[in-house]
Amino acid sequence: VCLVLDYGSQYTQLIARRVRELGVYSMLLPGDITLEEIKAADPKAIILSGGPNSVHIDGSVRLSTGFFQWCEDKSIPVLGICYGLQLMVHTLGGEVRVADNGGEYGRMAIRTTRASTLYSYEEVHKQQVWMSHGDEVTRLPEGFQAVATSEQGAIVAVEAAGRKLYGLQYHPEVQHSERGTQTLKHFLLQIAKLPADWKIEQVLEEEMEKIRQLVGPTEHVICALSGGVDSTVAATLVHQVLGDRLHCIFVDNGLLRYKEAERVMLTFTQHLHLPVTKVDDSARMLQRLKGVKDPEAKRKAIGSGFIDVFREYAEELQRTIGVQPRFLVQGTLYPDVIESCPPPGSGRKHSHTIKSHHNVGGLPKDLKFQLVEPLRELFKDEVRALGRLPQLNVPEAFIKRHPFPGPGLAVRVLGDVTEGNALEVLRQVDEVYIQCIRDFGLYDEIWQAFAVFLPVRAVGVQGDQRTHSHVVALRAVTSADGMTADWYPFEPAFLQAASTKICNTVRSVNRVVYDVTSKPPGTIEWE
Ligand code: XMP
Repeated sequence: VCLVLDYGSQYTQLIARRVRELGVYSMLLPGDITLEEIKAADPKAIILSGGPNSVHIDGSVRLSTGFFQWCEDKSIPVLGICYGLQLMVHTLGGEVRVADNGGEYGRMAIRTTRASTLYSYEEVHKQQVWMSHGDEVTRLPEGFQAVATSEQGAIVAVEAAGRKLYGLQYHPEVQHSERGTQTLKHFLLQIAKLPADWKIEQVLEEEMEKIRQLVGPTEHVICALSGGVDSTVAATLVHQVLGDRLHCIFVDNGLLRYKEAERVMLTFTQHLHLPVTKVDDSARMLQRLKGVKDPEAKRKAIGSGFIDVFREYAEELQRTIGVQPRFLVQGTLYPDVIESCPPPGSGRKHSHTIKSHHNVGGLPKDLKFQLVEPLRELFKDEVRALGRLPQLNVPEAFIKRHPFPGPGLAVRVLGDVTEGNALEVLRQVDEVYIQCIRDFGLYDEIWQAFAVFLPVRAVGVQGDQRTHSHVVALRAVTSADGMTADWYPFEPAFLQAASTKICNTVRSVNRVVYDVTSKPPGTIEWE
């Protein structure tokens, strides 16, 4: 395993991902982890990520005492990237200072100054890299050599090859760094001599074994299925191990898309043979949402509505089949885990439990479940690959579904969702829109597409009649992980077709607008 220690850079996950793409299993751990914990992970290589802090700020994260000595003794190669490099240099007695020129940001040319282990003894070369730093290394620790500099003369790559310590001031993990992947590959496969043999099948076997160990032979487990890829793949995996000792619940809270409950239940029961109970909580939920306009208040109401259903379901299992499940399956992904372990020094507390519970609508602690999270080390595309394995055989249509938020259509009807027939109008518009996207063959190119019901009316003319009807907004975005997103540049022919079809099919809509906001500054959802 290659450990990636997180110091808070926005690219940390990307490092972990690149390492896996190179066939080496990577684990992301918080930067303030203890040496004992590092030892327990038994790493064969360690990467120190970048981060927003300066080594000179009090309270910025440091490495455990003895870290470098232990790595040297064990001959474990360490690569520091950006802040990681500065931390290495600072810890080992070199000097890091605020850059005189205010730092270097963006694309930049660098030049190697000598043959080096880090660059596989290549001849001197130039390359474009992605830089983002305010501090720079001004003096190297003893035994280190600078092996590349920027055009401004700053040190951008260093090594103490005999001690297997390496550092890069730039970000090799981002695509804009020309030879970045090559350098990472060289570090992992040649310097650390790690085998490039990690495959998704390994995760399946390991996770199934973990579940066998964790959940005894007679224990029962429950799982809330949302209809999304993550919870479905997680449940399918757990089902392979536990069979009917897994009890799934799918809640129709009245905020689902057109015919969603029917469609999803069909896949669960007929294709995946999952033991799932559907609970119709729509009337109660809509009652709760009456008059609620504030987005956060809506989310809270939906979350607590879900908890009630969940509690009742657990009680019912106790009553009907006399089992008291102790375990709860969740489709928590790697990015969720990382988000819940905020970078040290960020002032936020380690909040794993809270975030995990948030995944199923903020389950309170007194429900007392032990979590089963077979996907917590995976990225979304890895979850998709896992679901596609013949052992799980999750249908392709399911694997490729766009994400759908927990609070459902409630965050897509702005204002009070129970007013008039807003939900019904939105369901119809959304269905027509998504069908258009499929007809144009664009569904798989888009991360997420949906319609939003706006709480306004516009004047129009339909069949020589003046109308004063609903306005809907269409949204489509591309994204790698939902953290940032770009609006999708549809051809005018598509927008025209979608708009015409929507107004002709859903007669109470006379105006369609397209959202051209990226994230940031917007978010993907409107509420
Ligand atoms: P935003 O709107 O924050 O959304 O840019 C990013 C991604 O997360 C989804 N989303 C949610 N998913 N519960 C969820 O399970 C939620 O409360 C929630 N809010 C937003 C959103 O659809 C997008 O994919």
